[in-house]
Amino acid sequence: MSSPLIVVTGATGQLGQTLSQLWAESPLPQYQLKVLSRSALDIGKAEMTDAVLSELKPSVVVNAAAYTQVDKAESDAAGAALVNAQGAGAIASWVAANQARLIHISTDFVFDGTSKTPYTVNQQTNPLGAYGASKLAGEQQIQALANGCSAIVRTSWLYSEHGNNFVKAMLRLMGERDQLSVVNDQVGSPSSTHGLADLIFAMIPCQNYQGIYHWTDGASISWFEFAQEIQYQALQEGLLSKAIPISPIATSAYPTPARRPAYSVLDRSRVLAEFECPVEDWKAQLRLVIRQLAGKSAATL
Ligand SMILES: NC(=O)c1ccc[n+]([C@@H]2O[C@H](COP(=O)([O-])OP(=O)(O)OC[C@H]3O[C@@H](n4cnc5c(N)ncnc54)[C@H](OP(=O)(O)O)[C@@H]3O)[C@@H](O)[C@H]2O)c1
Repeated sequence: MSSPLIVVTGATGQLGQTLSQLWAESPLPQYQLKVLSRSALDIGKAEMTDAVLSELKPSVVVNAAAYTQVDKAESDAAGAALVNAQGAGAIASWVAANQARLIHISTDFVFDGTSKTPYTVNQQTNPLGAYGASKLAGEQQIQALANGCSAIVRTSWLYSEHGNNFVKAMLRLMGERDQLSVVNDQVGSPSSTHGLADLIFAMIPCQNYQGIYHWTDGASISWFEFAQEIQYQALQEGLLSKAIPISPIATSAYPTPARRPAYSVLDRSRVLAEFECPVEDWKAQLRLVIRQLAGKSAATL
């Protein structure tokens, strides 16, 4: 009998690439992994999702595919919902009908940011924009269709050495500009895809995960503080050659089409209680990615 299969959607995304990379370094010996790009599985097409999953018959689907353009979603709510809500729902339907399991990734943007303490998994949601609303709708579809055989892992401020993210944007701007202004009144936690991938690989063999989990790298900082640490580490690792002044600004000085939560720290205590996975401090996680980037050419920023 062949080993059970894990299918990952969103191969070209930050998380999809990290899952492939970490799997190559240390696979779970009892499983096989197949990471599918959008051309192999477009989750916005329900018939394709059903046909591809029925052909492959995975025992676990990790849904790392998503419409992640937060600002674009404001003028394309239907596009965001097609992937983040209906797409998640189509996977949940297949999983529930085929005795498989689903690990789905969601976001801190399901919250409105009015809390003053870390958001717990059961706290009231209230997304501020179309992206958050589409991700919340995806969570609701999964809970309606596959509640007993799925985990929804909310994360925040995801970054990696791959794709587009705040760390890479800051490094590029720090190399190009004489000074930088960064928002100081939005507080959250960065999450490296490496830590999230470690958690996903720790969850897979457990089989009994169910409901909502929160995962971050455990910080409670503003984007400004994150930018300061990025510059500090990049100078130390030789990724930047000179420091530039970074000024804190208010969100109101940096208007964007989508509103963002002012506070979106996630309480990750449920994960820490239920899973044994490596837990690295947020600065150590950042250093790993900065070192990966320092090993690549500056053209990758
Ligand atoms: N980035 C963040 O700051 C952040 C924060 C909190 C939560 N999250 C969540 O974390 C998860 C992973 O995010 P990420 O940063 O890795 O995303 P990402 O880098 O933007 O990658 C998204 C992936 O989804 C794929 N995709 C988009 N539409 C698709 C479709 N219809 N069918 C199949 N694949 C499709 C993209 O493919 P193409 O390359 O073809 O477009 C890409 O591979 C997502 O659920 C996201 O909502 C992200």
